Formats: sequence, structure tokens, C-alpha cells
Amino acid sequence: MVGETWLADAGGREMTTARKIIIDTDPGQDDAVAILLALASPEIEVVGITAVAGNVPLALTQKNVRKTCELAGRPDIKVFAGADRPLLRTLVTAEYVHGKTGLDGPDLPEPQMPLQDEHAVDFIIDTVMAHEPGQITLCLLGPQTNAALALMREPQLATRLREIVLMGGGFFEGGNATPAAEFNIYVDPHAAKRVFESGIPIVMMPLDVTHKALTKRDRVARFRALGTAAGIATAQLLDFFERFDERKYGTDGGPLHDPCVIAWLLKPELFFGKQCNVCIETMSELTKGMTVVDWWHVTNREPNALVMRDIDSDGFYELLVERIAKL
Ligand code: RIB
Ligand code: CA
Repeated sequence: MVGETWLADAGGREMTTARKIIIDTDPGQDDAVAILLALASPEIEVVGITAVAGNVPLALTQKNVRKTCELAGRPDIKVFAGADRPLLRTLVTAEYVHGKTGLDGPDLPEPQMPLQDEHAVDFIIDTVMAHEPGQITLCLLGPQTNAALALMREPQLATRLREIVLMGGGFFEGGNATPAAEFNIYVDPHAAKRVFESGIPIVMMPLDVTHKALTKRDRVARFRALGTAAGIATAQLLDFFERFDERKYGTDGGPLHDPCVIAWLLKPELFFGKQCNVCIETMSELTKGMTVVDWWHVTNREPNALVMRDIDSDGFYELLVERIAKL
């Protein structure tokens, strides 16, 4: 079994172990900021990053992961390509939000670091099975196709993964891809159903919380004021990314979705929510991809996710600026 990673503090004393995570992602500007946050945080050990088709096709998401790792000064990170389409549905992408590259905004160089040969799903399975149960956390920032495939290929993952922390869904806030469905779930509702029915402890960051984490102008300016490559690029990513949602919602800034997942691992006290039952609509043409959240416990369905509804958004951006300043 792979050993634990220990953090030595200033006095050389051993502290708590770094939390081992796999990030599954479809960059996307907000995914990129989440990856930067994770790579800037010593409490987290990013064991690998797996790309999935979502915001843009897989050929671009896997490249965007590598561009982001190099921006963070981490060409050592192992990056894998996974599913290039949902389990059953036809792929729907979101260039209208993220631009044709998926990472429009900064002019990031073509990546030099390698893409690993191993398929993302094999990497997820091999990594979880090589560690003691409860050591690996899976962070899902896009459509959940890779996670569902891994669970179907190796059912033991359901008892060996420590937790799944995911961005997806919405309930009081409705949807963003359709009136009922948030994009990550809408792209692959069958995968999301598999994940939410797995029995694995889930922390869910829906639109209800991410819409309270707006990329306001003064917040974006703080990243630019860092004057570092990572800080300036983050400001450029957010400037591009927010323009669509600002027009749509009429707000100062747009919701910063995916970094909420990593922020939970670092400072869970920034978030407020409760255990609820969440079911995924996969049949109805009108509401396919809807996350049906029993927030008021009006059914006898067992809670299967810690569903977040509120955030200390100032504290969230303090954390983001403080950490990205370290890159
Ligand atoms: O609906 C927002 C989610 O869809 C985010 O993860 C964004 O990156 C896109 O994947
Ligand atoms: Ca995403």
C-alpha cells in the first residue's frame, strides 16, 4: 500500500497528512482557478488530474489541464485523458461561455508537459485500489462520466473512496443549461445518477452556493494586483469567463463555480448546508439533468449528500488571493 505523505512544519515537526485528491475536470476558466488553488495549497496533495469532455471537447480539456499545471509551475503533475463523451447522451459543450479554446482570456503557451498514456478511468481505479480505504478524495468539476465509468468498472471504489466533493446541480436557483438543469449534470445525467446512488459520502456545491461567489470587479482586481503570472492570468481568466453571466444575470461579476470544491477541502467553515437526499432526473425531456433536492425532508428518501446553500464569499476570495499569490 502506498505510504502517507507527511507535512513538516517550520520546526520540522510532523503535522497532519496532506489530503490526497484526484481532480476530474473539464477546463473551463473556473476549473483552472480551482486547479491553481489546489496546487497552491500544501494541505492538499494532487495525486493526479483527469480530464473529461464538457465545457469543450476532450482534446482541449486535457490540453487546458496541462496549460494550467504549467502556469502553476507544476509540470510534474500527472494528467490523464478520460471520456470524450457522456455515457449515453450526445456531448453538449459550452464554448459560448468559455470561448473556443475553453480557456480564453490569457494567452497561455502550448503545454510542454506530457499527457499520461494511461486512461483516466484506469488511473482513478488503480490509484484508489493502491491506497488504504478512505485515503483518496475525488473532486469532480465537470460532467461525472469518468467517475461513473470507474464505479461501474470497479464497484469496490464505493467503499474505498474517502469522499466525493463535486460542483453540480441546483435547486432553489434552478438550472443554467436549462431552466431545470445545471450544465455538469445536464451533460451526463446518467453518470450523475450513478455517482449520487453510489453510497459514497458526497459534498455538493450547487448553483445555490456558487451564485453567491461572484467575481466582482474589486475581487478580480486583487488577482491582477498580485503582479505574478498566475495572478494576472487568473484575472484574465475571470474577466473573460464572467462576461456571459454578467449579461445573463445582470450582476457585478459572474458565479465562480469550481473553486468552491477545493475551498471546501481547505476551509469548510466558509460553507453552510445540510444533509439531503438528491435524486437525478434522467428520463423527462423537459427536466433531464435536474437535481431533485429534498431540502425540507418531505420524503423518506435517505440523505445522500451534504448540500451547500451558502458561502462566506469574502472569506472565499481572501483564501483564493492568498493562495494564488504563492504561485
Ligand atoms: O455549471 C457550471 C459548471 O459547468 C462548472 O463546472 C463549469 O466549469 C462548467 O463545467
Ligand atoms: Ca467545470
